[in-house]
Amino acid sequence: MRIGQAIRATAVASLVSAGFFVLSSLEEARALEVEAGRALLDANCASCHAIGDTGASPVANAPAFRTLSERYPVESLEEALAEGIFVGHEGSPQMPELSFESDEIGAIVAYLRSIQPK
Ligand code: HEC
Repeated sequence: MRIGQAIRATAVASLVSAGFFVLSSLEEARALEVEAGRALLDANCASCHAIGDTGASPVANAPAFRTLSERYPVESLEEALAEGIFVGHEGSPQMPELSFESDEIGAIVAYLRSIQPK
């Protein structure tokens, strides 16, 4: 291989690996966000709701979170999560009145999206 070719090949190889690096750190950031959302739901909701992609809710009439998108897009919960008003919890007085910060809401919605059936 001539020098010029070798340099070009090296340059292309490092561009490609830089590209992969950016992509994989984006993916990693997304995975961390989803994981943070799961942890928030685990801490605040899992005593009543099934939060995973299998299993029944501990409280029978609390919907499993993976079924929420059957009724509405999970993004529509953003406002309720911010305001601490849980539409649908009227029949559940033991429901704590929680509200979340916007980064937490982003994480929760990212997690909820990840467990909805495709
Ligand atoms: C103390 C038990 C309990 C906890 C804790 C709880 N929920 Fe619920 N949730 C329920 C029950 C029971 C229902 C079913 C509706 C009803 O009877 O009020 C419900 C319903 C829902 C619904 C469906 C509302 C609708 O109209 O479709 C959503 C969304 C929801 N909960 C989100 C959450 C989130 C998010 C958390 C945690 C931040 C949480 N819940 C924590 C008991 C709970």
